[in-house]
Amino acid sequence: MDLNEPIVQSFNVTYNYKLYFTKHLFSIENNLFHSILEAYKPQEATKVFFVMDQGVHQHHPELIKQIKSYCNAYSYNIKFTDLIVVPGGEQSKNSSDLIDTVLEGIDKNKICRHSFVVTIGGGAVIDMVGYASAIAHRGVKLIRIPTTVLSQNDSAVGVKNSVNLFGKKNFLGSFATAHAIINDSAFLETLEDRDWISGIAEAIKVALVRDKQFYKFIADNAEALFKRDSACMQHLIYRCAQLHMEHIAQGGDPFESGSSRPLDFGHWAAHKLEYMTNYQLRHGEAVAIGMAIDLTYAHLIGFIDLSTLKSILKVIENVGFNLNVPIKTKEELQQLLEGIEEFREHLGGQLTITLISEIGSINDVNMIDMEKMKQAIKLLPTLLKENV
Ligand SMILES: NC(=O)c1ccc[n+]([C@@H]2O[C@H](COP(=O)([O-])OP(=O)(O)OC[C@H]3O[C@@H](n4cnc5c(N)ncnc54)[C@H](O)[C@@H]3O)[C@@H](O)[C@H]2O)c1
Ligand SMILES: [Zn+2]
Repeated sequence: MDLNEPIVQSFNVTYNYKLYFTKHLFSIENNLFHSILEAYKPQEATKVFFVMDQGVHQHHPELIKQIKSYCNAYSYNIKFTDLIVVPGGEQSKNSSDLIDTVLEGIDKNKICRHSFVVTIGGGAVIDMVGYASAIAHRGVKLIRIPTTVLSQNDSAVGVKNSVNLFGKKNFLGSFATAHAIINDSAFLETLEDRDWISGIAEAIKVALVRDKQFYKFIADNAEALFKRDSACMQHLIYRCAQLHMEHIAQGGDPFESGSSRPLDFGHWAAHKLEYMTNYQLRHGEAVAIGMAIDLTYAHLIGFIDLSTLKSILKVIENVGFNLNVPIKTKEELQQLLEGIEEFREHLGGQLTITLISEIGSINDVNMIDMEKMKQAIKLLPTLLKENV
């Protein structure tokens, strides 16, 4: 035995999970939820601990009672332990107290690696509860039930969860897959208009970087989407979620150890603007502005022509986004630009910003010309005015 020889370790783990689509998940006649638990543990009931977004509770006050009756009706599959309600929105990612609350619930209800946390809410609550579930006992099982457009088509279908720290978006987090994700379309009916629209930004993003045909669908149906056409929205959510999941599985870097991150198109500015507006901007609203900035920059460096740029800006506005960059002073402009280096630091390695060279095709760049970027941010309002 050569004691100086390194011992080589290597193994693969395969991840399998499903994203389900349904309506009225907890009505007694809906078999989906209890059959997921039955498939996991056919011989006995599985312990389940629920964490619900306050915004969901407020708009669906009957839901807690419904969940309890459902669990009772299927008690041979489900062992209900408790249900807690936590504040919704970005505030849930800005408070370490809430992580403790979820961890205490996991402890008190003796949720182990063979039992489930079930989280029902928007992307923020799902991120926070996902993080707590990933660190408790080094990872208890999680079922995500996303209730906003953005969480149903992007944030809940992937492998990441995180909370904010040190004034930085998603500073603390982990990569952890859910056991299952269940999209219930009935939740979308109670969304405020801005939360209905906000998630469309992620669909436009993934269409611009991956799928010209999907982009055309969004462009053709912008008005219907704005007017809350459910069938259009269901198509948008399905395709957007599918493209995100395909990228994770087939993009060659599910846990993001490389530097190229096409699904973060428009996100360096988005994350910074969310922070700079004290999270008054929703993530999707900030992504729409971030894409508008990067598209204008892409035009200034010769990647896309003016008419393509203007037509994309028009589509983003037509679905309902306000693309005015919410900065007023030189200092704020400077602060926004610091988002580029913070983005690099968050990803690690070489700066890589995804731009597009045409609809559906990406072109990554490894450096940003700061003067041109400032020019892009100044040019954008003029383009928006000309577009009216
Ligand atoms: N983990 C990831 O990969 C990933 C990806 C993209 C975004 N995100 C994160 O997702 C978060 C944004 O999520 P979001 O857009 O869902 O917003 P959100 O979670 O902030 O929710 C917005 C508001 O809607 C309320 N709400 C939720 N469901 C509702 C319903 N059915 N009816 C009425 N109100 C409801 C919430 O209480 C909240 O007030 C951000 O923190 C973002 O960073 C995470
Ligand atoms: Zn995003």
